[in-house]
Amino acid sequence: MKTYLVTGAAGFIGANYIKYLLKNYEDVKIVVLDLLTYAGNLGTIAKDIDNDRCIFHRGDIGDRALVDSLFAEYKFDVVINFAAESHVDRSIENPQLFLETNILGTQNMLDAARKAWVTGRDEQGYPTWRDGVRYHQVSTDEVYGSLGAEGYFTEDTPLCPHSPYSASKTSADLFVMAYHDTFHMPVTITRCSNNYGPYHFPEKLIPLIIKNILEGKKLPVYGDGSNVRDWLYVEDHCKAIEMVVRKGRVGQVYNVGGHNEKTNIDIVRLTIATIHRLMTEQPEYRKVLKKVVMGEDGLPTIDWINDELITFVKDRLGHDQRYAIDPTKIKEELGWYPETCFEVGIVKTIEWYLNNQAWVEEVTSGDYQHYYERMYAGR
Ligand code: NAD
Ligand code: DAU
Repeated sequence: MKTYLVTGAAGFIGANYIKYLLKNYEDVKIVVLDLLTYAGNLGTIAKDIDNDRCIFHRGDIGDRALVDSLFAEYKFDVVINFAAESHVDRSIENPQLFLETNILGTQNMLDAARKAWVTGRDEQGYPTWRDGVRYHQVSTDEVYGSLGAEGYFTEDTPLCPHSPYSASKTSADLFVMAYHDTFHMPVTITRCSNNYGPYHFPEKLIPLIIKNILEGKKLPVYGDGSNVRDWLYVEDHCKAIEMVVRKGRVGQVYNVGGHNEKTNIDIVRLTIATIHRLMTEQPEYRKVLKKVVMGEDGLPTIDWINDELITFVKDRLGHDQRYAIDPTKIKEELGWYPETCFEVGIVKTIEWYLNNQAWVEEVTSGDYQHYYERMYAGR
């Protein structure tokens, strides 16, 4: 039995990850550390916390006393650091918070792990480490910057971040590698492309578009909608992380992506068409519409769910044009491949949102409306 400290697991990917672990592995006990910022929601993982195999602590990854006390209490074997400020638009509004959480928070976790796990020194003065320990950093393809029409990010692509978010994630990665090179700390890093799936906070493109369609609101597409993202179903990402934690080589970076490039405008059009189709084939889904115009057949109409909802708005500052991952290394070394094709994954995702509007209402019940108005004011 190994004990994992999983940070940020009340957020989108971390929550999917602990659900994946609990479902597929019996040899892991999980302690979650999450600050429950606007992006974290305890309800998302409430059913997973049983205080036996899965325990929850609310707190900041930057709080050294707290993190030290958790290491002392649980004797972690593995740390998986998901916790971060993750939204590029918010990083343009408030870069400082991204520095504090993503850089200082990561360095704090590294130092706490070092303190807990070092057993002595070797002849050259390098620290020696407790057997079987591992620090894993969940990173992003955004550290590589932006691609033109051709090419892919490999693990050797130079780091060239543009946004305050990606600059902070890059700095965190550099600290992780510095702890490996300087202290021989057993670390791994995964750099993944855009995830989609259940529990995605509706400030990111796909869940925001779904939410706005159901409310009959305009669908804001930044710039001309030609930017490309490489979409990966979240459970495939979770599986990749677990493979790297168990079998990945120490000191290595693994890119994770699914060769699934789409322009933003195509994603938005596909989401509109899929919601329209699902509500045609299964009219009971229309009960989740917030914009209700009754038709003569006694059902809410859906003819207004069409491309006319799209509105092109002012572009994101420093908007990266294209991301695309070359996942050859993780495929060849660890046998990982994305199991969920996009056509299946996007329908599963949209159906999840149609069936889980209570979750959407719960996570947007805070100051979400203020955020939305601020973010799209003047666009
Ligand atoms: P998210 O914003 O949905 O969740 C982040 C979680 O971290 C939340 O639960 C939040 O409460 C918690 N958190 C924030 N600050 C904290 C702090 N100081 N201490 C403790 N907890 C804190 O993010 P996500 O989309 O699930 O992303 C998770 C990780 O994966 C991030 O590191 C992100 O950079 C990376 N990533 C995300 C994507 C993606 O497409 N979403 C792709 C590649 C990599
Ligand atoms: O590539 C991995 C990254 O993917 C992660 O590291 C980030 O944490 C995650 O948020 C995501 O970043 P993006 O900026 O790519 O995701 P977002 O959903 O914010 O935007 C996706 C694309 O859609 C991007 O080109 C901007 C555009 N967009 C976004 C929103 C919210 C719009 O056109 N309209 C919108 O309203």
